[in-house]
Amino acid sequence: MKPIIFTLPGNEKLSENIIKGINGEVGNFTQRQFPDGETYIRILSNVKEREVTIICSLHEPDNKILPLIFLCKLLKDLSVKSICLVAPYLSYMRQDKQFKSGEAVTSEYFADILSSIVDKLITIDPHLHRRKSLKEIYSISCVALHAAVLISKWIKDNIPNALLIGPDCESEQWVSEVAKAANAPFIVLNKIRHGDKNVEVSVPDTKKYKSYTPVLVDDIISTARTMIETIGHLKKSGMQPPICIGVHAVFAGNSYNNLKESGIDNVITCNTIIHKSNNIDISEMIITELLKIDSIII
Ligand code: R5P
Repeated sequence: MKPIIFTLPGNEKLSENIIKGINGEVGNFTQRQFPDGETYIRILSNVKEREVTIICSLHEPDNKILPLIFLCKLLKDLSVKSICLVAPYLSYMRQDKQFKSGEAVTSEYFADILSSIVDKLITIDPHLHRRKSLKEIYSISCVALHAAVLISKWIKDNIPNALLIGPDCESEQWVSEVAKAANAPFIVLNKIRHGDKNVEVSVPDTKKYKSYTPVLVDDIISTARTMIETIGHLKKSGMQPPICIGVHAVFAGNSYNNLKESGIDNVITCNTIIHKSNNIDISEMIITELLKIDSIII
């Protein structure tokens, strides 16, 4: 029997590629809001004893999580064999520590919620900073795919003389990987975050790279303060306008426009979150992963 895929609103474009790529069946369901704002869900496909995949990127997750919980609970009530969640962007990974007493470590709470409703999670470049692996907080089978190889290819195909720049030490692991595959040099800066929108970045030593095109690479672009702060330093040191590459186009508030207006050449992101800056397609990576497994429960 074909794998059956349910697509939550906002993920249609990516899902179309994935369903085609794995020769899957479209899972039919209705989701709407009652006049009072509560969620109505009805599954129309036959899902009994089937392995179900749900596509739902979890950017701005608070409005998405409740319909996702209801869908998973309903699927289980309808006796599915297993549920695999494909969440190209996995939210709630950044509050991974109690910085002040009384704070919620939401990455753990969110992991508990998802672990209680699905059997497997496939995601792309989750923000693992103080944690080495999703396994530390998720109790289900997890696959973290990496966009580094696609980003390297894009750089190789589009920027002949690239200097890769990572904004902070935690980015070194994968900026170095992207640089190696793109056959380009890289530098990594030091960042201190003073608040949600207040970031300080060390002045990079770029003297010997004047003729290079700077390429800022980060996993998440949210307020874009990290990139804008770095761009300011690059400008002062006489570097060319940079290309900014982010895996996840979170772009909170007006940050995309702020970044565009900060003196850059271009902004490129992967389509883990649908956004006009998407230029690197991750669907093939997900298709390969889904085709790898006979049964989605490991
Ligand atoms: C942080 O540790 C991440 O790797 C990114 O550098 C960060 O999320 C970017 O955030 P913002 O765009 O708000 O500066």
